Amino acid sequence: LADLTPRQIDKVITHARYLKQVSLPWLLPQARETAKLRMPSQSLFSKSVALLFSKRSTRTRIAAETAATLLGGRALFLGREDIQLGVNESARDSARVIGGMCQGIFARVGAHEEIEELAKYSPVPVVNALSSLWHPTQILADLLTLQENAHLFDKNLQPLVSDPKLFARAKQFYPLSKLRPLTIAYVGDSANVLHDMLVTYPRLGHQLRIASPEDEKYRAPKEVWDRVVQLECDKNIWWGKDPKEAVQGADVVVTDTWISMGQEAEKAERLQAFQGYQVTEALCREGGANPDWKFLHCLPRKPDEVDDEVFYGPRSLVFPEADNRKWTIMALFDLIIGKWDLGPYTERE
Ligand code: CP
Ligand code: NVA
Repeated sequence: LADLTPRQIDKVITHARYLKQVSLPWLLPQARETAKLRMPSQSLFSKSVALLFSKRSTRTRIAAETAATLLGGRALFLGREDIQLGVNESARDSARVIGGMCQGIFARVGAHEEIEELAKYSPVPVVNALSSLWHPTQILADLLTLQENAHLFDKNLQPLVSDPKLFARAKQFYPLSKLRPLTIAYVGDSANVLHDMLVTYPRLGHQLRIASPEDEKYRAPKEVWDRVVQLECDKNIWWGKDPKEAVQGADVVVTDTWISMGQEAEKAERLQAFQGYQVTEALCREGGANPDWKFLHCLPRKPDEVDDEVFYGPRSLVFPEADNRKWTIMALFDLIIGKWDLGPYTERE
């Protein structure tokens, strides 16, 4: 997301909201009746998107496959065991060949350099489906979820989704309600999900408060922090080691697994390092979070990082957040692969 301007990010979120509304007839029946809002564009008609996944996935994969279907296209799931990439063939050669037959590539890789190599040599757009450093599509879904729930953070706003009168006037709620500036706390490991938060939320006016263990392996690596500073996001970030201090005043509390894919060998060491970092009601109460704080998690989730009371409780937005993976990935596919309409993605504001 560091490659996108705030305006481009906003465009993706607004478009995701539109695609969600026109794709879910039970959510917005009236929208179906108007000619303009009848169905999503078929911008992927006769097009194929290669899903190059070298790691497991439930949400990202299913979101991508179902989104491509709704846009009239086809997603080809190509797992690590399926193709020559990384075993018999270089990323350079694979990117050229796959890009010769498909109109877009959605890639989940190990080391971030792998996707940079694909992007360098692919003749078609490459979208990051998760790498060691970044997980951009996750934060797009988180943003849509927060915007849809703007009324939870601002008593002056009406709920967008549950009021039938608002449904009848669909066009009147574009763009989405403006989210008031939030304090967003992240308690846990400095991994791909947090890194995209770092380069996104401060540019949208939100404050980030982060707690992770002091050891530098649990802090953002230099290449990530350089982007944070380049985008002047560091001015709106507080980073310490005490989870209670981090959740002070938090409207939203976020965490992720302590053991990301590929770190399984470090399990014992990581469980030890993150003692005291579990998100619980008690932690947020004692830390002085906003009494109405809400909870986000990219999933998959382990109880180590958040207990059942929070995860399955009324504060949790995790399942709407998971659903929104689909609409945000669909918006990206429509704009980047279908219509080539996101503008130059290196543009800066
Ligand atoms: N949140 C997320 O990326 O989930 P998956 O690994 O299941 O795709
Ligand atoms: N940080 C996690 C995110 C999973 C969606 C991982 O990389 O495994």
